[in-house]
Amino acid sequence: MMINNSERVIAWESRTGIKLNQYEVLDSTNNRAKEYVKELISRGNTNPVREIFVCEKQTNGRGRRGKNWESPSGTGIWMSCLMTPKVSSDVISEITLLAALGVVKAINHLAVSNSILNIEPKIKWPNDIVINEKKICGILTELVNDPATGMNYVICGIGINVNDKSFVGENYTFATSLYYESGVVWNREELFFDIALCLRQFVQTLEAKKSLGFIKDDYNNMLISMNKEIILKTENGDYKDEVYISRGIDDSGALLVEGKDGNIFRVTSGEVSVRGLYGYV
Ligand code: BTN
Repeated sequence: MMINNSERVIAWESRTGIKLNQYEVLDSTNNRAKEYVKELISRGNTNPVREIFVCEKQTNGRGRRGKNWESPSGTGIWMSCLMTPKVSSDVISEITLLAALGVVKAINHLAVSNSILNIEPKIKWPNDIVINEKKICGILTELVNDPATGMNYVICGIGINVNDKSFVGENYTFATSLYYESGVVWNREELFFDIALCLRQFVQTLEAKKSLGFIKDDYNNMLISMNKEIILKTENGDYKDEVYISRGIDDSGALLVEGKDGNIFRVTSGEVSVRGLYGYV
């Protein structure tokens, strides 16, 4: 996605303090952000950074676990938010959860202001957004640390299938787009600005509060697995045999899961992801 109205971009940049870097084609917005971080590190940067890299088409979009992320031209939002947040604990998982909630809020916001009533986005912990049990958005958060300065550069890559009309047959089993589920074309620009602003506000609040407590209830309300049976999938893709009940996130963003014996324990997104008993969700 490209925003051609340069006056709007300039006004937005000065209002938010976020610099926008737009490209027609990139291999991956996360890769571009990483290259930029390398430049910053080689210059010995110690200033806070707040920039977004966005493009119309990615030729090598990356998903989690080394998967490929389809990023065709003209229909989606492919963006990476680069920031240097001052948080001490597991910054990757915290920013990922904030981004997921930000995307859901932005979709809901736009749906309400455009009277689109039939859309109900949900979060599949930790970082997928689903509608009608199919994925419309994925988030890939990466961290680059500069040992010389101690700076932590966080790159939060967000990919959203907005107006893609190609989800038919096989492709439609697990993935979908906002257009496909709502029947209307969405304004990508508005959605992009809403997400960027929401994430920035969330990150500021996280820096002040040092805990995810302020989004916990909202996040859990959007959680598709809330109080439902789930199975756990480890990073290497194995499923554990046992069935648990998801009880939502705690103040640190870990998912609380209840075993058959009634004991509750915490799982972090670095260790596992979750799946329902049937299908993708
Ligand atoms: C996933 O669900 O596997 C994560 C997908 C993340 C895709 C986005 S698109 C923008 C950014 N650039 C990338 O190469 N990947 C992320």
